[in-house]
Amino acid sequence: MKKVVLAYSGGLDTSCAIPWLKDKGYAVIAMIADVGQKEDFAQIKTRALKTGAAKVHVLDLKKEFVENYVFAALKAGAVYERKYFMATSLSRPIIAKYQVEVAHQEKATAIAHGCTGKGNDQVRFEVTAKILDPKLETIAPVRIWEFKTREEEIDYLYSKGVTLEITKKKPYSIDKNIYGMSIEAGVLEDPWTEPPEDIYQMTTSPEKAPSKPIYCEIDFGKGIPKKLNGKSYHGVVLLEKLNHIGGTQGIGRVDMVENRLVGIKSREIYECPGGTILLTAHQELEAMVLDRETMRYKQGVSLKYADLIYYGLWETPLKKQLDQYIEETQRHVTGTIRLKLYKGNCTVVGRKSPYSRYKKELATYGHGDQFDQKLSEGFIKIWGMPY
Ligand code: ARG
Repeated sequence: MKKVVLAYSGGLDTSCAIPWLKDKGYAVIAMIADVGQKEDFAQIKTRALKTGAAKVHVLDLKKEFVENYVFAALKAGAVYERKYFMATSLSRPIIAKYQVEVAHQEKATAIAHGCTGKGNDQVRFEVTAKILDPKLETIAPVRIWEFKTREEEIDYLYSKGVTLEITKKKPYSIDKNIYGMSIEAGVLEDPWTEPPEDIYQMTTSPEKAPSKPIYCEIDFGKGIPKKLNGKSYHGVVLLEKLNHIGGTQGIGRVDMVENRLVGIKSREIYECPGGTILLTAHQELEAMVLDRETMRYKQGVSLKYADLIYYGLWETPLKKQLDQYIEETQRHVTGTIRLKLYKGNCTVVGRKSPYSRYKKELATYGHGDQFDQKLSEGFIKIWGMPY
């Protein structure tokens, strides 16, 4: 029997995909990826087996996800269309990579996912898998099956003898991991409608946040966050702590209309409290230690890198080349940033670095000025000469 490795979430679509793939003649290996979505994985595993999976792999990918994907985006300063931190986009290439690995272990010939034919995620899963192993077949049941509504999917499962405790139609489509939440559909499809407060899971509303600001200090070493308030933590713990602190002050909510790869615009809400704090701090540290032209050049690289992530091109040559460039820029991104979190605002209030290019003796308007102002006369003449 042919085998397929399905990226399984435990939701209705991927649950329905199991008997559907079996009908098509595949033995289904369900792969459950823990990227920090904080769900009951034992229960999801049971569900996969109940639905007919031949075998289930539960993989804890949190550490690798944070250290190799989230922190890569952080060092790159990658934000899609200036707003989206790409929690969802970043999780796809790592999940696909492990799907391919499990496929090799299990001698499977195909991988499958539960994405629709309208989104970005189908592209990210399939392009990544195809790059890593072009021989693997990719199957997207939701794109081709006959079911048009959730009810039809539930009926189909029922006809297969499977009854799942499916809660009544969820009003939103949600994707969650340790880096953030993506929320779309339902009333959010009207771009004029303000998001209802109850969609948010990681952040309190800025209005309800405590009226006392939270101060925190983050230490970076070569662009990687290492300490929070003077204490060292591994990436996963540090990010979780920042999500919590930022969440209580309503940091990192984004409401945007974005350009999808397939050409349509869509409205989506994001929450990324820890990421917002980290990126704010990281950028500020770069402002202290990078020379002007590197900063300028890197801004362009950030945009490109963000597009590559969003477009599902993680495993491509250009992405790897840019990684080397970015790594080089991070050599001196070491130091401490002090932030004030207050009712949705994340403000830098202090910065220091052993590699700081800020020289008080040059900048000062007070005593000890070493800047020779007389030299500026000649500088200006030559600078303006071409015009
Ligand atoms: N638009 C985002 C992206 O392409 C998120 C997609 C998943 N969103 C969701 N609500 N299920 O990365």
